[in-house]
Amino acid sequence: MIFSRDQICAHRGASGHYPENTRAAFDAAAQSGAGWIETDIQCLADGELVIFHDEQLGRTATGSARLRDLCWSEVAPLDIGSWKGAEFSTQRPLRCEDLIEWQSGATDRPGIVWEMKCSEDPEAVEAAAQALIERLSVAQDHRCIVSSFSRALLQAIRPRLPAVPMALIAGALPADGIAFCLNNALEGIHLDGQDLHETAAHMILAAGLSLRSYTVNTEAEARRLSVLGVSMIMTDFPERLLTTP
Ligand code: G3P
Ligand code: CA
Repeated sequence: MIFSRDQICAHRGASGHYPENTRAAFDAAAQSGAGWIETDIQCLADGELVIFHDEQLGRTATGSARLRDLCWSEVAPLDIGSWKGAEFSTQRPLRCEDLIEWQSGATDRPGIVWEMKCSEDPEAVEAAAQALIERLSVAQDHRCIVSSFSRALLQAIRPRLPAVPMALIAGALPADGIAFCLNNALEGIHLDGQDLHETAAHMILAAGLSLRSYTVNTEAEARRLSVLGVSMIMTDFPERLLTTP
């Protein structure tokens, strides 16, 4: 084994070889031995929380509608597997609660890094916050981290889910990124591994924040980041970093 289980997070599931954000990708991530999975959630027009990365259909499912304009009854039947291979044509979208149920289905299932996709629009933030709080506040023994690029979303949920670790996502470290995390009781920061270097890593760790990086698909880059103090590597290919060649 190259890295330990808890250092490795399967980005959108094992999305290198499986269709992202599907049960197939999450099952493969669990089988790879990854201690964590990362996944994207967004709020639909009816308040359901769907696991889906893009703002609109087109890349991983047929159509062009914006997710935020659709209801769950319209999203649930979508084929989100065929774009990756005909053998995945039965893959359908999951909701937040479906993945929580999947996690609780076995004792060794990975923890979940939720990435809440959300604009800074106040109405969208409140709808997303409400939906997420409802699902996570009833989940028992749910090992998770909540993360977002949306500062407004993090500020809305932080006081209402006090026991859940939360992290700001950014590309490179923003000038006010550490202060934002500390002022809002966030536990960590998730940065693009390509843009992360020693000075920023040192500042983050010295502030007492956890440092995690995305999306890292080579062993050499994962090792570089690990030496800098990155505690979790989000990768599309967890099996590469968990299996001795
Ligand atoms: O959670 C970090 C990372 O996934 C953010 O970028 O575009 O892959 O959702 P993206
Ligand atoms: Ca993501």
